[in-house]
Amino acid sequence: MSEEESLREDLVRYGRVLYDRRLAHGSAGNLSVRLADGAILVTPTNSSLGALDAARISKVSPGGDLLAGDPPSKEAFFHLAVYEQRPAAGAIVHLHSTYSVAVSCLCHERTDDILPPLTAYHVMRVGKLPLLKYFRPGDRALAEAVRATARDHKAMMLANHGPIVSGRTLDEAVHAYEELEETAKLFFILGDRKTAPLTFEAVAEINAVFAS
Ligand code: 13P
Repeated sequence: MSEEESLREDLVRYGRVLYDRRLAHGSAGNLSVRLADGAILVTPTNSSLGALDAARISKVSPGGDLLAGDPPSKEAFFHLAVYEQRPAAGAIVHLHSTYSVAVSCLCHERTDDILPPLTAYHVMRVGKLPLLKYFRPGDRALAEAVRATARDHKAMMLANHGPIVSGRTLDEAVHAYEELEETAKLFFILGDRKTAPLTFEAVAEINAVFAS
């Protein structure tokens, strides 16, 4: 099996897993991976992540041209913006999962990091989570905002929309996305209780030991 065929199968497999875990619903969300030649495979627009067809997954050039498959996600452009800024990124997960989207709808005083460092795995897998202002899905102006943020962040949150999470591999991006959703859930479970997020020193130690 070629690299491309195998990555097409990975997208189908992970799409179904994310759908079955109720992290994706309806036709919301999109996934992508980057091929060795710089083109990306991205889920087709309006497709259910639970029922992807490997042969129909869109192949898009770094410049945004459709090379093969069905018409791509209307958000393929922000996937390309992240890949452009993060040379080591090989995969991106964007979903509308419940707890993360709930966090994206709150008023945030600080927008540079909108979830507290509740656990070491959140710090390791997600890191700082900046909030980008609201754009209509498919609005190309979003690409500029994503481009400006992606260089220094593997994850970011789109206001009233949901997270964009990147990783070196699809496994890594999915695991980071799941970690983010769990932290968002913890955030609401803890609610107004007096909580003790990790200290500045603990976060610095995690970053020093687990820096990749
Ligand atoms: P697409 O179906 O075009 O990928 O859009 C889904 C989505 O998640 C919009 O935010």
